Amino acid sequence: MEKFSQETRHNYQFPKHFWWGSAASGPQTEGAADREGRKPSIWDYWYTIEPDCFHKGIGPENTSDFYHRYKQDIQLMKETGHNSFRTSIQWSRLIPDGAGEVNPEAVNFYNRVINELIANNIEPFINLYHFDMPMAMQEKGGWECRDVVDAYVDFAKTCFQLFGDRVNYWFTFNEPIVPVEAGYLYQLHYPKIVDFKRAAQVAHHTIVAHAKAVEVFKNLRIDGKIGIILNLTPSYPRSQDPEDVQAARVADLFFNRSFLDPVTKGRYPEELIEILRDRELLPVVEPGDLETIRENPIDLLGVNYYQPRRVKKKEEILPEGAAFMPEHLFDPYIMPGRKINPHRGWEICEEVIFDIMIDLRDNYGNLPFFISENGMGVEGEAKFRNAEGYIEDHYRIEFIQNHLKWVHKGLLEGANCLGYHLWTFMDNWSWTNAYKNRYGLVEVDLDNHLKRTIKKSGRWYKQLSENNGF
Ligand code: BG6
Repeated sequence: MEKFSQETRHNYQFPKHFWWGSAASGPQTEGAADREGRKPSIWDYWYTIEPDCFHKGIGPENTSDFYHRYKQDIQLMKETGHNSFRTSIQWSRLIPDGAGEVNPEAVNFYNRVINELIANNIEPFINLYHFDMPMAMQEKGGWECRDVVDAYVDFAKTCFQLFGDRVNYWFTFNEPIVPVEAGYLYQLHYPKIVDFKRAAQVAHHTIVAHAKAVEVFKNLRIDGKIGIILNLTPSYPRSQDPEDVQAARVADLFFNRSFLDPVTKGRYPEELIEILRDRELLPVVEPGDLETIRENPIDLLGVNYYQPRRVKKKEEILPEGAAFMPEHLFDPYIMPGRKINPHRGWEICEEVIFDIMIDLRDNYGNLPFFISENGMGVEGEAKFRNAEGYIEDHYRIEFIQNHLKWVHKGLLEGANCLGYHLWTFMDNWSWTNAYKNRYGLVEVDLDNHLKRTIKKSGRWYKQLSENNGF
């Protein structure tokens, strides 16, 4: 890594070639859900059976229509200072049945998007899975089923072969723990199961799928880097009481180290294995799985950071024989005076991003990483529209600046951070939240044919990128 030191031109000057951009996902932006060969993912299916689970009954079929408007959108990325942009390839668009035939329309579409980004000097970062299991694969058992692992690896291989000549940065999964906890513990994603043992199996299969995809990537000798994107939620204890400290340690094992350690160090944390073994909750591990995980560490980590986790020792008495949940080992702690984003209920604690950077520097071999998501969702932003017709989202600029100050400090302390991507480029559809909270640098007006208008934050982001600092 090039040595980074503070310069004087701006208060916060970032290293040369720093990535400024944003992240999005195929299912949240493309729309055209049933067009040109695409078949349903779990989201399309779930919407048909339980539309009420989606904010205002808005499902994933249209979203922001990136499928048809990608050219215009890429121009807007330029106007908002992007030198890089992440999106995902929808498995259910490229291989509509999950396994078998490749959809030529999808190949054309993703080729056009990648080429258009490159033609505009925007580095494409391609992610392969953003919570969007093809329904045909879910019917086989989703991540619980070993055949689905193999089908995912074939899908990954197809993507590397089709687009690997132009894409330099690949990611196997976005936030792989989310489908585990949301789909198999907390009933927030389809298939809405509550069963820790099955969740553990899903987690293990996801990690094996990831490691096998990395192996294929290396074997194909693709000229690029491969990584994974993890949502890290550092755990902080209520106090230094050893029982609170232990509660935070355990929460960290379940929600961070469970994925971070295998993908970087090639092994699950021993302490986590012991906790699960004691309760007979270990997943089935097939011969060769642990070797595959050990032999395929990532090149690059994406860190999605939104909020910390605060915990205290378990005080609540559990009913006799209650089925295991991670929360049986700690209680959430509501710290007085926390700053909360009222629209999302998430704590805003900027300095935690620095703690993550130092942890990666000291405990993960100073692995190269970038902030792959960070952002502020706000409801009802249209009321901030000014006389010139654009939204004055000063709070978003402040949010980004406050986080970047800590990123900058982490860089000065020697952390190996290569860039910052905001969630997200333009307002988009979000899982069960639909369009409730807006995160974009660019407004998408649902009442006016999805008209795009750059917000104040988007104008500011361009200056940030051009100045490489603020
Ligand atoms: C991230 C996900 O965790 O958070 C995105 O990668 C998601 O897909 C984003 O949209 C914001 O969360 P939400 O639920 O407020 O849209």
